[in-house]
Amino acid sequence: MRLFHQRGRGLALLATLAVAVPLLSGATVVTAAPVAPGLPAIVPQPVSESAVTGAGFTLAARTPVDVLSTDPAALGVAGYLAGLLAPATGYALPVVSSTQPRSGAVVLDPTGPSSLGAEGYTLSSGSGGVTVTAHGAEGLFRGVQTLRQLLPAAVESGTVMPGPWTVAPVRIADSPRYSYRGVMLDVARRFYPVAEVKRYIDESAAYKINTLHLHLTDDQGWRIAVGALPNLTAVGASTQSGFTGGTSWYYSAAEYQDLVAYAKSRYMTVVPEIDGPGHSSAALASAADLNCDDRARAPYSGFDVGISLYCLGDPQHVGNVSTFLNTVISAVAALTPGPYLHIGGDETPQATAAEYAAYVSAATTAVTAQGKRVMGWHQLGQGTLPANSLLQYWGDASDQSTVGTAQESAGIRQARSGVAQGAAFVMSPGDHAYLDMKYDAGTPYGLSWEGYVPVRKAYDWDPATTVAATDGSSPVVPADRIAGVEAALWADRAYAGSTSLPTSTGQFPEPSVYADHMSFPRLPAIAEIGWSPRSTHDWTDFSRRLATQGPRWTAAGIGFYAAPDITWPAGGTPGSLNGVHTVTTGSQALDDPASSTATLTQLDTWALHGGSNQQWTFAQQTDGSYTLTNGASHLCLDVNGGSTSAGATVIQYTCAATPNQRWRATALPGGGYTLASVRSGLLLTTASTADGALVTQQPDTNSALQHWTVN
Ligand code: ACM
Repeated sequence: MRLFHQRGRGLALLATLAVAVPLLSGATVVTAAPVAPGLPAIVPQPVSESAVTGAGFTLAARTPVDVLSTDPAALGVAGYLAGLLAPATGYALPVVSSTQPRSGAVVLDPTGPSSLGAEGYTLSSGSGGVTVTAHGAEGLFRGVQTLRQLLPAAVESGTVMPGPWTVAPVRIADSPRYSYRGVMLDVARRFYPVAEVKRYIDESAAYKINTLHLHLTDDQGWRIAVGALPNLTAVGASTQSGFTGGTSWYYSAAEYQDLVAYAKSRYMTVVPEIDGPGHSSAALASAADLNCDDRARAPYSGFDVGISLYCLGDPQHVGNVSTFLNTVISAVAALTPGPYLHIGGDETPQATAAEYAAYVSAATTAVTAQGKRVMGWHQLGQGTLPANSLLQYWGDASDQSTVGTAQESAGIRQARSGVAQGAAFVMSPGDHAYLDMKYDAGTPYGLSWEGYVPVRKAYDWDPATTVAATDGSSPVVPADRIAGVEAALWADRAYAGSTSLPTSTGQFPEPSVYADHMSFPRLPAIAEIGWSPRSTHDWTDFSRRLATQGPRWTAAGIGFYAAPDITWPAGGTPGSLNGVHTVTTGSQALDDPASSTATLTQLDTWALHGGSNQQWTFAQQTDGSYTLTNGASHLCLDVNGGSTSAGATVIQYTCAATPNQRWRATALPGGGYTLASVRSGLLLTTASTADGALVTQQPDTNSALQHWTVN
């Protein structure tokens, strides 16, 4: 997103907690230090974790989930836990409201001391059972996320798996470092259907994320219905980056409320963002009077940044913008129970200081009139902020390098101005917490204007020194003004050198493939930065714990990137082939003949040369299978006509991720894979080792012509 390159509060109760939690005698206590191998691997690392000798607790088909309360919210968390465990275990654990903790049960106790805070919890497991104690339902919910990770990885499976389902014995006391731990989805440039947002909510909640920031508006689209301004969705929602002609690329009020309610059920608060005064082409296309010439702009589906600005140069148009913002913000605020409304403020190179100030005044007035708190990108610090504003800082190392010099960057100066006005800060440093940055040169999606962000870089930073000198001294934002962290998944350009993502219908993108690949394993790294005490920060230990999550993601169908800076468990099934590969049998490579761009071209095998017509982008689908997109044609590997017959031709066709374009990769004992069509179950097979041999689907004959090396 960056156009040009200048381009909370920590909880003080940790000490209290350590005292408040009774420990088993003889337990090994690990507090505030990297955790010893041998203890259960949990991400984010709890404040204290201690080993308990003896067996764990094995769930039985009728193990009760006892709630020591009649509070519907606490009972709701118990129902959520039973629902989480049901698919893999096949158990329907009964949820019981009871007055006494029983042994042989999973006990959820929401009546713990207030010193636990809203999100803190203790967890104790051993052969007699499991007890999670919190001060209310939210803390129970966070504790339940830890409990999940004490069970075998297969518990994340959507289908019944063999047990036993034993909860590792451990004693934990935990609470967050920061109260704000967010993720952002750019649903403006790339629309995420409701089901995909819910999926991301669930994936994030597992790592104790508590805020979902929806970037609802940008140049490329307007995604929230506003009853009084129907053009915003009729016109403003008709585009995405690289796509035009949409009729339902927005959330109706009911859909947005459904998302807010779903997030709430996962103890996540939704922060809606209405970006301005730049990033506003979709609004300028929908409301003529926001333009200085009072003529609506054409809807925009390109990829540029910094191309738009509300007309703020004369009183009449400032009035128009104010009216517009009041209408929009009152409508969105009415659907949003959370305290914040995000009003953007980033990347407005064309705005004069007076124009920018007019925007900040109009937008902040509209937000405070609704009783909401203002959130905005740190550039908003240039304007006059109301009390209790929250700025989201997205600067980077180049900004840091100017702290304390005579020429501090604009970002540092804006942060200083925000601090002077009493604002708190959420840290989203672009070079650590922007999930749209590529991991490395092989990442098939995303951008690299902040350089590559491998997992270690996503982990190696500290919110306390993000806006400080490079050596951590001279903090610009005092510690007591840091509310937390947010990982931002932009969608400026989701697919290398192309204008589209892998698609599920030929027309419609499948953002979950992008979101999973870019977020896992980096989102858990940022979640840990926000949750865990700084004293536990240790790359070696983190990477050990993170590796154990791979089999969980595989079981859950999360198409993560098996990043090379993590040693994934041997015999585990991290298994993600996502990325660009050649696909060879012997010395012959799966090949788009003569780099044809025609659909229906039958594919062949040819001597490996590694040109773009022999490069295939594997994108894991939610069922674990892959689509394979050719590097020359950008068309997908496809069984002609969806045939289920042996001998049917394998062609390239417009990507749609239909079952005849999904291929299940099965590892062979001696290395390599078979690639089976999900539609037919038949194997990708070449006719011979000659150049130009044609590719078809055939029954499995254990032929070398069906055994593919994916490099
Ligand atoms: C941003 O990256 N423009 C907030």
